[in-house]
Amino acid sequence: MRRILIVGAGKMASNLCYNLYRRGWKEVWIANRTCERAEVLAQRFGYKAIGLDQALPEVDLVVIAVRDDAIRDVADRLRLQTRNAIVVHTAAMRPIAALDRFARYGLFYVLGSFSAEHYTDFAELPIVVEGNSEAVVGRLKALALEFSDRVYELDLQQRKWMHLAAVWANNFTNHLLGISHHLLRDASIPEQIMHPIIRQTFERALITDPRDVQTGPALRGDVQTLRMHRQMMHTWKGGSYAELYDLLSHSIARTHGVSLQLTSTSEALSEEE
Ligand SMILES: NC(=O)c1ccc[n+]([C@@H]2O[C@H](COP(=O)([O-])OP(=O)(O)OC[C@H]3O[C@@H](n4cnc5c(N)ncnc54)[C@H](OP(=O)(O)O)[C@@H]3O)[C@@H](O)[C@H]2O)c1
Repeated sequence: MRRILIVGAGKMASNLCYNLYRRGWKEVWIANRTCERAEVLAQRFGYKAIGLDQALPEVDLVVIAVRDDAIRDVADRLRLQTRNAIVVHTAAMRPIAALDRFARYGLFYVLGSFSAEHYTDFAELPIVVEGNSEAVVGRLKALALEFSDRVYELDLQQRKWMHLAAVWANNFTNHLLGISHHLLRDASIPEQIMHPIIRQTFERALITDPRDVQTGPALRGDVQTLRMHRQMMHTWKGGSYAELYDLLSHSIARTHGVSLQLTSTSEALSEEE
């Protein structure tokens, strides 16, 4: 599989281009709803841009890397030259049946968090594949192994759980780290003060069950400390994050069998009688 058409010019598509380019792929076409974005991306890597509704070049693989909700529409618009091409999408939460108008189809999902400005090498990242036949799975696995040796075959149900777990591990933790960062900044404390504990948190999470190393006032049932934190959260950013503080404290307490009671969002945490 050396000739590839990428549909999309966003974060996933541009990181895919970067990884193909690094590994010496030359025959790559890019099509996108907004043609100019495809042209800019293609130019960056010496690839070719093509209109979505044009007759497409003969390729071995089509990667549809567009917004999840647009996958089927885009698939319906594609006019492929050959039935031999494998058509994949890149959305963990979507069934491969969205592409069932093609003879050979599947999924090529890279488990990462991508940016359009800073490209990520797929070498360290898990790649999940699924296909509508053993032959397709075999081809997609072989392709994935060109990028990374962490290749998995997962069905839709497994992918959905994996994606949900990734939202907790990445999206939510990043949101929480952002809160921590801005709390420090607003108190004129250097952000670096938190770096060792952040590093320790993530390093430990990779080698233990994070629940076994949980610490903090909610776990200890330190209600006075929780109360002070909660008051502080009400004074910071108009109290926007106070509710989140309560929810997380309660979740920690509940998970570890510690009794805490929050009577209303405007009242302080109090120990259950
Ligand atoms: N970003 C990640 O970290 C990541 C990780 C793994 C998988 N993925 C998957 O990769 C896929 C693309 O995500 P992304 O992050 O690259 O999104 P993105 O940066 O927002 O780019 C979205 C792309 O979809 C196109 N698009 C949106 N609506 C469309 C429509 N109605 N018809 C045709 N094209 C349309 C956009 O075209 P225009 O340029 O014309 O707007 C653009 O090329 C998604 O399935 C996502 O689940 C993303």
